[in-house]
Amino acid sequence: MHKPVIRPRRNRQSAAIRDMVRETTLSPRDFIYPLFVDETITEPVPVASMPGVSRIPLAGVGQAVKEAAGLDIPGVILFGIPAHKDAVGASGWDANGIVQRAIREARDAAPELCVIADTCFCEYTDHGHCGVLHGHTVDNDATLENLQREAVSYAEAGVDMVAPSGMMDGMVAAIREGLDAAGFADVPIMSYAVKYASAYFGPFRDAADSAPSFGDRSTYQMDPANAREALREARLDVEEGADILMVKPALAYMDVIRAVRETTDLPLAVYNVSGEYAMVKAAAERGWIDERRVVLETLLGFKRAGADIILTYHALDAARWLADA
Ligand code: PBG
Ligand code: ZN
Repeated sequence: MHKPVIRPRRNRQSAAIRDMVRETTLSPRDFIYPLFVDETITEPVPVASMPGVSRIPLAGVGQAVKEAAGLDIPGVILFGIPAHKDAVGASGWDANGIVQRAIREARDAAPELCVIADTCFCEYTDHGHCGVLHGHTVDNDATLENLQREAVSYAEAGVDMVAPSGMMDGMVAAIREGLDAAGFADVPIMSYAVKYASAYFGPFRDAADSAPSFGDRSTYQMDPANAREALREARLDVEEGADILMVKPALAYMDVIRAVRETTDLPLAVYNVSGEYAMVKAAAERGWIDERRVVLETLLGFKRAGADIILTYHALDAARWLADA
């Protein structure tokens, strides 16, 4: 009988050896936790399609960021739901807007935490698109001017990092120019460089009340069929001065994460989006999967694919699980 000489099982025979040969690790320090801050509420309101996630009032921001920081999570990303929406999303650059106030609360409550602001307009416009409309499409260059105002306003409120998510051409260069001109050369830009027009954003749009009132986002977000185009988007954002790149969604785009990883030396973030979260929670609630193992395996998979940073709604749970592993 043939006896193998080379036996990969040798390196799997004990926990000690498995620990020694492990190629990828997962830590709470890899996570960014998203927070939805709603100007219109005074108590947390659960998001039906995202069990375990709630919109929180401004008064809840301090406690939420302390909880994340206490679990050794290094950053949060803020999304705002304003009391008033308009055609251009002007509350996005209001010094007393909900995100600006949430930034100040978060900075005070957890000074060591990196407070990131998602920088877009879909939560602030009455039509739900990611910028200024011209007819039935988003006017790219008019939106860039507003992105400059918004990013500077967040910086004035004390944000540690801005994260433009609207997939406007030239958004990174515009924001860099705006921040630098206003004296914020040290505020980094984490660009949603490669963002697909994805059905996986469905639950988020309930959470953030940001669904477009007509049409979809396929004239600005990418076609899920395209991988070469992802490299082009990533390269442009590098040239425009991005500090961190992001690929979004994550789970259905592991090939894109790997490909972007191999074409840039910038840090790479991935967004484990709302629909990915909702699927896991739904199956776990039915007892069909082991939530803890599935979540940790998925997050580890993003690291293995090349991610340095993971934005995830599982961050608090995963941090606790990792702490008692
Ligand atoms: C806003 C934005 C979206 C997400 C992050 N920033 C929604 C969208 O583009 O429609 C999605 C996050 C998620 O699904 O968890 N532009
Ligand atoms: Zn948007």
